[in-house]
Amino acid sequence: MSKESITLTPFAEDVLTGLQAYNKTLPSKYFYDTKGDDLFQQIMHLEEYYLTRKELEIFQTHKEAILEAIGDGQPFRIIELGAGDGLKTKVLLKHFLEQGVDFTYTPVDISGNVLEILEENLSSEMPELKIESYEGDYFDALSEISESPEKDIVFFLGSNVGNFSQEEAESFLSKLQNFLKPEDLLFMGVDLKKDPAIILNAYNDSTGVTREFNLNLLDRMNSELEGDFDRKQFLHYPYYNPHTGECRSYLISKVEQVVTIGGEEIHFRAWEAIFMEISKKYDQPQLQSLAQISGFKPLDSFLDSEKWFANVLWEKG
Ligand code: AVI
Repeated sequence: MSKESITLTPFAEDVLTGLQAYNKTLPSKYFYDTKGDDLFQQIMHLEEYYLTRKELEIFQTHKEAILEAIGDGQPFRIIELGAGDGLKTKVLLKHFLEQGVDFTYTPVDISGNVLEILEENLSSEMPELKIESYEGDYFDALSEISESPEKDIVFFLGSNVGNFSQEEAESFLSKLQNFLKPEDLLFMGVDLKKDPAIILNAYNDSTGVTREFNLNLLDRMNSELEGDFDRKQFLHYPYYNPHTGECRSYLISKVEQVVTIGGEEIHFRAWEAIFMEISKKYDQPQLQSLAQISGFKPLDSFLDSEKWFANVLWEKG
Protein backbone atom coordinates (compact mmCIF):
# COMPACT_ATOMS: atom_id res chain seq x y z
CA MET A 1 0.00 0.00 0.00
CA SER A 2 2.46 2.65 -1.13
CA LYS A 3 1.05 6.16 -0.98
CA GLU A 4 2.29 6.93 -4.48
CA SER A 5 1.09 3.92 -6.45
CA ILE A 6 -2.41 3.14 -5.17
CA THR A 7 -5.44 5.30 -4.58
CA LEU A 8 -5.91 5.15 -0.85
CA THR A 9 -9.10 5.60 1.13
CA PRO A 10 -9.15 8.84 3.15
CA PHE A 11 -8.70 6.73 6.30
CA ALA A 12 -5.57 5.00 4.94
CA GLU A 13 -4.21 8.28 3.60
CA ASP A 14 -4.70 10.09 6.93
CA VAL A 15 -3.23 7.21 8.93
CA LEU A 16 -0.08 6.97 6.81
CA THR A 17 0.43 10.72 6.70
CA GLY A 18 -0.02 10.92 10.48
CA LEU A 19 2.27 8.02 11.31
CA GLN A 20 4.99 9.03 8.86
CA ALA A 21 5.20 12.54 10.33
CA TYR A 22 8.08 13.45 12.66
CA ASN A 23 5.61 13.89 15.55
CA LYS A 24 3.26 10.97 14.99
CA THR A 25 -0.44 11.68 15.13
CA LEU A 26 -3.78 10.04 14.29
CA PRO A 27 -7.04 11.97 13.71
CA SER A 28 -9.47 11.34 16.58
CA LYS A 29 -12.43 11.41 14.18
CA TYR A 30 -11.51 7.80 13.33
CA PHE A 31 -12.26 6.68 16.91
CA TYR A 32 -15.90 6.31 15.94
CA ASP A 33 -16.38 2.93 14.27
CA THR A 34 -19.15 0.69 15.68
CA LYS A 35 -16.98 -0.38 18.63
CA GLY A 36 -15.82 3.21 19.16
CA ASP A 37 -19.43 4.49 19.18
CA ASP A 38 -20.25 1.90 21.81
CA LEU A 39 -17.20 2.82 23.92
CA PHE A 40 -18.09 6.51 23.71
CA GLN A 41 -21.60 5.68 24.96
CA GLN A 42 -19.96 3.92 27.93
CA ILE A 43 -17.68 6.93 28.53
CA MET A 44 -20.69 9.24 28.72
CA HIS A 45 -22.08 7.14 31.57
CA LEU A 46 -18.85 7.13 33.60
CA GLU A 47 -18.89 8.94 36.94
CA GLU A 48 -15.51 10.53 36.07
CA TYR A 49 -16.74 11.80 32.68
CA TYR A 50 -18.69 14.75 34.09
CA LEU A 51 -19.28 16.56 30.76
CA THR A 52 -22.51 14.80 29.72
CA ARG A 53 -24.00 15.03 33.22
CA LYS A 54 -23.19 18.73 33.52
CA GLU A 55 -24.67 19.66 30.16
CA LEU A 56 -27.81 17.68 31.02
CA GLU A 57 -28.03 19.57 34.32
CA ILE A 58 -27.79 22.88 32.44
CA PHE A 59 -30.66 21.90 30.13
CA GLN A 60 -32.80 20.69 33.03
CA THR A 61 -32.19 23.78 35.16
CA HIS A 62 -32.21 26.46 32.50
CA LYS A 63 -34.66 25.18 29.88
CA GLU A 64 -37.06 28.11 30.43
CA ALA A 65 -34.28 30.69 30.18
CA ILE A 66 -32.78 28.95 27.12
CA LEU A 67 -36.12 29.06 25.32
CA GLU A 68 -36.56 32.70 26.23
CA ALA A 69 -33.10 33.50 24.87
CA ILE A 70 -33.42 31.63 21.56
CA GLY A 71 -37.10 32.03 20.70
CA ASP A 72 -38.94 35.21 19.82
CA GLY A 73 -42.39 33.75 19.24
CA GLN A 74 -41.63 33.06 15.55
CA PRO A 75 -41.19 29.53 14.19
CA PHE A 76 -37.56 28.38 14.16
CA ARG A 77 -35.46 25.40 13.24
CA ILE A 78 -32.86 23.65 15.38
CA ILE A 79 -29.97 22.24 13.35
CA GLU A 80 -27.93 19.95 15.57
CA LEU A 81 -24.43 19.18 14.29
CA GLY A 82 -23.29 15.70 15.42
CA ALA A 83 -26.58 14.79 17.08
CA GLY A 84 -25.51 11.37 18.41
CA ASP A 85 -28.14 9.77 20.64
CA GLY A 86 -29.85 13.11 21.38
CA LEU A 87 -30.22 12.16 25.05
CA LYS A 88 -29.59 15.69 26.36
CA THR A 89 -31.23 17.57 23.49
CA LYS A 90 -34.44 15.64 24.25
CA VAL A 91 -34.87 17.62 27.47
CA LEU A 92 -35.00 20.88 25.52
CA LEU A 93 -37.11 19.49 22.66
CA LYS A 94 -39.72 18.19 25.15
CA HIS A 95 -39.85 21.50 26.95
CA PHE A 96 -40.24 23.46 23.72
CA LEU A 97 -43.12 21.19 22.65
CA GLU A 98 -44.82 21.52 26.04
CA GLN A 99 -44.65 25.29 25.63
CA GLY A 100 -46.39 25.02 22.26
CA VAL A 101 -43.37 26.35 20.34
CA ASP A 102 -43.48 25.95 16.55
CA PHE A 103 -40.10 24.49 15.53
CA THR A 104 -38.46 21.80 13.42
CA TYR A 105 -35.58 19.63 14.62
CA THR A 106 -32.89 18.85 12.04
CA PRO A 107 -30.23 16.50 13.43
CA VAL A 108 -27.14 16.22 11.23
CA ASP A 109 -24.82 13.26 11.58
CA ILE A 110 -22.31 11.46 9.41
CA SER A 111 -23.83 8.13 10.50
CA GLY A 112 -27.15 7.17 8.92
CA ASN A 113 -27.46 4.44 11.51
CA VAL A 114 -27.22 6.91 14.39
CA LEU A 115 -29.88 9.12 12.76
CA GLU A 116 -32.26 6.23 12.20
CA ILE A 117 -32.09 5.19 15.85
CA LEU A 118 -32.49 8.81 16.96
CA GLU A 119 -35.51 9.39 14.71
CA GLU A 120 -37.23 6.21 15.87
CA ASN A 121 -36.59 7.06 19.47
CA LEU A 122 -37.78 10.67 19.19
CA SER A 123 -40.89 9.90 17.17
CA SER A 124 -42.04 7.30 19.67
CA GLU A 125 -41.41 9.62 22.64
CA MET A 126 -42.62 12.83 20.96
CA PRO A 127 -44.92 11.95 18.05
CA GLU A 128 -45.74 15.62 17.49
CA LEU A 129 -42.06 16.59 16.95
CA LYS A 130 -41.25 17.70 13.38
CA ILE A 131 -37.96 15.99 12.44
CA GLU A 132 -36.05 16.43 9.19
CA SER A 133 -32.72 14.68 9.63
CA TYR A 134 -29.72 15.06 7.35
CA GLU A 135 -27.07 12.39 6.83
CA GLY A 136 -23.67 13.73 5.92
CA ASP A 137 -20.92 16.23 6.49
CA TYR A 138 -21.78 19.34 8.58
CA PHE A 139 -21.02 21.87 5.87
CA ASP A 140 -22.69 19.89 3.10
CA ALA A 141 -25.74 19.85 5.34
CA LEU A 142 -25.53 23.57 6.06
CA SER A 143 -25.11 24.54 2.43
CA GLU A 144 -28.06 22.39 1.44
CA ILE A 145 -30.42 23.34 4.22
CA SER A 146 -29.45 26.88 5.14
CA GLU A 147 -31.63 28.49 2.47
CA SER A 148 -34.70 28.40 4.72
CA PRO A 149 -36.60 31.59 5.58
CA GLU A 150 -36.94 30.47 9.22
CA LYS A 151 -34.56 31.49 11.95
CA ASP A 152 -31.99 28.73 12.47
CA ILE A 153 -30.44 27.85 15.81
CA VAL A 154 -27.33 25.72 15.28
CA PHE A 155 -26.70 23.35 18.21
CA PHE A 156 -23.09 22.20 18.60
CA LEU A 157 -23.15 20.46 21.96
CA GLY A 158 -21.16 18.12 24.18
CA SER A 159 -17.86 20.04 23.99
CA ASN A 160 -17.38 18.81 20.44
CA VAL A 161 -15.63 22.11 19.77
CA GLY A 162 -13.01 20.95 22.30
CA ASN A 163 -11.82 18.31 19.84
CA PHE A 164 -10.47 21.12 17.65
CA SER A 165 -7.18 22.90 18.21
CA GLN A 166 -7.41 26.68 18.64
CA GLU A 167 -6.79 27.25 14.90
CA GLU A 168 -9.21 24.52 13.84
CA ALA A 169 -11.93 25.90 16.13
CA GLU A 170 -11.43 29.39 14.72
CA SER A 171 -11.63 28.22 11.14
CA PHE A 172 -14.59 25.87 11.77
CA LEU A 173 -16.61 28.57 13.56
CA SER A 174 -15.72 31.26 10.99
CA LYS A 175 -16.94 28.96 8.25
CA LEU A 176 -20.09 28.17 10.22
CA GLN A 177 -20.72 31.88 10.82
CA ASN A 178 -20.62 32.46 7.06
CA PHE A 179 -23.53 30.06 6.57
CA LEU A 180 -25.75 31.84 9.07
CA LYS A 181 -28.37 34.48 8.33
CA PRO A 182 -28.19 37.65 10.46
CA GLU A 183 -30.94 36.47 12.83
CA ASP A 184 -29.56 32.92 13.27
CA LEU A 185 -27.86 31.78 16.47
CA LEU A 186 -25.22 29.32 17.63
CA PHE A 187 -25.85 27.36 20.84
CA MET A 188 -22.62 25.59 21.79
CA GLY A 189 -21.53 23.33 24.67
CA VAL A 190 -18.08 24.18 26.03
CA ASP A 191 -16.12 22.48 28.79
CA LEU A 192 -14.51 24.97 31.17
CA LYS A 193 -11.18 25.04 32.99
CA LYS A 194 -11.38 23.58 36.48
CA ASP A 195 -9.30 21.53 38.95
CA PRO A 196 -6.82 19.75 36.63
CA ALA A 197 -7.27 16.49 38.56
CA ILE A 198 -10.97 16.41 37.67
CA ILE A 199 -10.19 16.98 34.01
CA LEU A 200 -7.43 14.41 33.88
CA ASN A 201 -9.61 11.76 35.58
CA ALA A 202 -12.30 12.28 32.95
CA TYR A 203 -9.78 11.13 30.31
CA ASN A 204 -8.05 8.53 32.49
CA ASP A 205 -10.97 6.74 34.09
CA SER A 206 -10.36 4.04 36.66
CA THR A 207 -12.20 1.36 34.65
CA GLY A 208 -10.02 1.92 31.58
CA VAL A 209 -12.84 2.62 29.11
CA THR A 210 -11.07 5.70 27.73
CA ARG A 211 -7.85 3.71 27.32
CA GLU A 212 -9.87 1.13 25.39
CA PHE A 213 -11.44 3.94 23.30
CA ASN A 214 -7.94 5.03 22.21
CA LEU A 215 -6.56 1.51 21.71
CA ASN A 216 -9.60 0.64 19.61
CA LEU A 217 -8.16 2.80 16.83
CA LEU A 218 -5.15 0.44 16.68
CA ASP A 219 -7.58 -2.50 16.32
CA ARG A 220 -9.47 -0.59 13.64
CA MET A 221 -6.26 -0.05 11.63
CA ASN A 222 -5.44 -3.74 12.02
CA SER A 223 -8.78 -4.88 10.65
CA GLU A 224 -9.44 -2.19 8.02
CA LEU A 225 -5.90 -1.38 6.84
CA GLU A 226 -4.13 -4.72 7.24
CA GLY A 227 -2.15 -3.50 10.23
CA ASP A 228 -0.31 -5.53 12.83
CA PHE A 229 -0.34 -3.28 15.90
CA ASP A 230 0.11 -5.13 19.18
CA ARG A 231 -2.02 -3.06 21.56
CA LYS A 232 -0.12 -4.47 24.60
CA GLN A 233 2.94 -2.56 23.44
CA PHE A 234 1.21 0.82 23.77
CA LEU A 235 0.47 2.92 26.82
CA HIS A 236 -2.48 5.32 27.08
CA TYR A 237 -1.24 8.68 28.39
CA PRO A 238 -3.54 11.70 28.76
CA TYR A 239 -1.96 14.99 29.79
CA TYR A 240 -3.60 18.29 30.80
CA ASN A 241 -1.97 21.69 30.34
CA PRO A 242 -3.76 24.16 32.65
CA HIS A 243 -2.27 27.10 30.78
CA THR A 244 -3.68 26.32 27.34
CA GLY A 245 -6.63 24.26 28.65
CA GLU A 246 -5.65 21.42 26.32
CA CYS A 247 -6.10 17.86 27.51
CA ARG A 248 -4.16 15.76 25.02
CA SER A 249 -4.25 11.99 24.76
CA TYR A 250 -1.30 9.98 23.51
CA LEU A 251 -0.57 6.34 22.85
CA ILE A 252 3.08 5.69 23.68
CA SER A 253 5.13 2.84 22.30
CA LYS A 254 6.65 0.99 25.28
CA VAL A 255 9.37 -0.57 23.14
CA GLU A 256 11.28 0.00 19.93
CA GLN A 257 9.18 -1.75 17.28
CA VAL A 258 8.16 -1.84 13.63
CA VAL A 259 4.47 -1.93 12.79
CA THR A 260 3.23 -2.74 9.32
CA ILE A 261 0.14 -1.13 7.86
CA GLY A 262 -0.89 -2.50 4.47
CA GLY A 263 2.73 -3.23 3.64
CA GLU A 264 4.14 0.13 4.84
CA GLU A 265 6.56 -0.13 7.75
CA ILE A 266 6.26 2.35 10.59
CA HIS A 267 9.17 2.51 12.99
CA PHE A 268 8.64 3.41 16.65
CA ARG A 269 11.45 4.33 19.01
CA ALA A 270 10.94 3.21 22.61
CA TRP A 271 8.65 5.78 24.33
CA GLU A 272 7.75 7.50 21.08
CA ALA A 273 4.23 8.94 21.22
CA ILE A 274 1.26 9.12 18.87
CA PHE A 275 -0.88 12.19 19.54
CA MET A 276 -4.47 10.92 19.44
CA GLU A 277 -6.90 13.57 20.60
CA ILE A 278 -7.27 17.07 21.93
CA SER A 279 -10.10 17.89 24.36
CA LYS A 280 -9.76 21.60 24.98
CA LYS A 281 -11.14 23.37 28.06
CA TYR A 282 -11.86 27.08 27.84
CA ASP A 283 -11.85 30.05 30.20
CA GLN A 284 -13.85 33.26 29.68
CA PRO A 285 -11.09 35.28 27.92
CA GLN A 286 -10.39 32.37 25.54
CA LEU A 287 -14.11 32.08 24.74
CA GLN A 288 -14.43 35.82 24.16
CA SER A 289 -11.49 35.76 21.81
CA LEU A 290 -12.79 32.65 19.96
CA ALA A 291 -16.15 34.39 19.43
CA GLN A 292 -14.52 37.56 18.19
CA ILE A 293 -12.01 35.92 15.84
CA SER A 294 -14.70 33.72 14.29
CA GLY A 295 -17.14 36.58 13.77
CA PHE A 296 -19.61 35.93 16.60
CA LYS A 297 -20.93 38.09 19.42
CA PRO A 298 -21.72 36.40 22.78
CA LEU A 299 -25.39 36.90 23.73
CA ASP A 300 -25.88 34.72 26.77
CA SER A 301 -24.44 31.73 28.62
CA PHE A 302 -25.83 29.02 30.90
CA LEU A 303 -23.73 27.20 33.48
CA ASP A 304 -24.14 24.22 35.82
CA SER A 305 -24.08 24.77 39.59
CA GLU A 306 -20.31 24.13 39.83
CA LYS A 307 -19.41 26.21 36.76
CA TRP A 308 -17.68 23.24 35.13
CA PHE A 309 -19.48 23.44 31.79
CA ALA A 310 -21.16 26.20 29.77
CA ASN A 311 -23.68 26.41 26.99
CA VAL A 312 -23.03 29.66 25.19
CA LEU A 313 -25.42 31.45 22.87
CA TRP A 314 -23.72 33.50 20.17
CA GLU A 315 -25.11 35.65 17.38
CA LYS A 316 -23.44 36.80 14.19
CA GLY A 317 -21.07 39.63 15.14
C1 AVI B 1 -16.70 13.85 21.75
N1 AVI B 1 -15.77 14.57 22.60
C2 AVI B 1 -16.32 15.85 23.04
C3 AVI B 1 -15.21 13.78 23.72
C4 AVI B 1 -14.25 14.64 24.57
O1 AVI B 1 -14.51 14.80 25.75
O2 AVI B 1 -13.28 15.15 24.02
C5 AVI B 1 -14.50 12.54 23.21
C6 AVI B 1 -13.81 11.78 24.31
N2 AVI B 1 -12.56 11.37 24.29
C7 AVI B 1 -12.27 10.72 25.39
N3 AVI B 1 -13.34 10.75 26.18
C8 AVI B 1 -14.32 11.37 25.50
